[in-house]
Amino acid sequence: MNDEILRLLFQRGDFLSGEEISESLGISRAAVWKRIHRLQEQGYEIEAVPNRGYKLSGDPQGLVYGMTLEDRFAQLDSRIWHRLAFFETLDSSNLEGKRLLAADPEAAGTVIVCEEQTAGRGRRGRSWVSPPGAGIWTSLILKPQIPPQAASMLTLVAGMAVHRAIGNGFDLQPQIKWPNDILLRNRKVCGILTEMSVEDMEMTGVVIGIGINVTNQAFPEELSEIATSVSLELDRAADALIDRAELLCRLLRDFEYYYTRFMQTQDLSLLMDEYNACCINCGRIVNVIAPDQVYQARAIGIDAQGRLRIRLADGTEKAVSSGEVTIRGVMGYGE
Ligand code: BTN
Repeated sequence: MNDEILRLLFQRGDFLSGEEISESLGISRAAVWKRIHRLQEQGYEIEAVPNRGYKLSGDPQGLVYGMTLEDRFAQLDSRIWHRLAFFETLDSSNLEGKRLLAADPEAAGTVIVCEEQTAGRGRRGRSWVSPPGAGIWTSLILKPQIPPQAASMLTLVAGMAVHRAIGNGFDLQPQIKWPNDILLRNRKVCGILTEMSVEDMEMTGVVIGIGINVTNQAFPEELSEIATSVSLELDRAADALIDRAELLCRLLRDFEYYYTRFMQTQDLSLLMDEYNACCINCGRIVNVIAPDQVYQARAIGIDAQGRLRIRLADGTEKAVSSGEVTIRGVMGYGE
C-alpha cells in the first residue's frame, strides 16, 4: 500500500489543506477530494473539515504502519537486517520465525512484524495480549556463531535496545527488570521471548520476540495492575498517532549497536555496566522465587553471562540464572 496522500497526512499528523496536497502531488483539488473519498471507502479514517483540510485520525488495519515501515526499513543501512516480512495477522511472530528458519536457510537477518497476534506467546508458557494496531509485535531472526548456552544473553541485549529506543524516542524513563521486562513507572511495557531453533543438535538460528505495548488503552483484568503502554504513560488519546514504524526502526538500530558489542566478546562484559545502570532491581532487596523456596536477597547487578548476582542475608554472594529463578520487587512488580 503506497499511497502518497496517506503518506502526507501521516507525516503531518494534523490537518493538511487540500491545496497543500494538490500542490505537493501536482494534481487538482477535485482529484485530491476523489482520492480522499476512495481512501475513506477503503476504511481509512480521514476527517474532512471545511477550511482546515484533511486529517488522518486512525490507523485502520495498520496499513499506514506497514507502508511507512517499508520505507524506513529500506533506509536503515544495516549490516544485520536484510529483509522485512510484514503481516496483518499471525498466530505468533515467534512461531512464524521458527517456520521461516525451518524452511529457508537464508532466513537470518529477517525482521518479522505483524499487526495482530492471535496466539502471542509469553515466557513460561504464558500468552501475550497482542491486539491489532496496538503495539510492536516483532521477531528478529539471527544466526550468530555462538554456543547455544550463550543465546539467552540475547534477551538482555534486546532489553537494552528497547530501553534505549523508548527512552530516546519519547519523554519517558524506562527501566529494565531483570532479565527481560521493560517497565515504565513500575509497570510492564515490553516483554521479550528468545527462542532457539535446533536441528541435529545444531543451532539453526534464534528468534528474538519483542512485544511493546504502544497504544493499548486498557488491559485484561489480570494485567491491569502490572501492564502499561507508551500512550498511557504519555497520557495520550488512543488515536493520537504514535509513529510505531519510527519506534521499531530505532529499536532495530539500537539492537544492532548492542549486538555488535555483544558479538565482540560473545558475552555481556562490554554491556553489563550500562545494563546495571538501567536495571530497576540493582541495589534493591528482591524476592527470589526458586522452584523449592522463596527468599529475599539484595540484587547487585548482572555478570558477564547475564546472571543476576545477589547478596544473601548472611553476606554470601551468588549468581542466579533466569532459567532457575524469578525475581519480584518487594514493593510491587518491579521495585
Ligand atoms: C514475556 O512473557 O514477557 C515475553 C513476551 C514476548 C511477546 C512477544 S510479541 C512478539 C513475539 N511473538 C510472540 O508470540 N511473542 C513475542
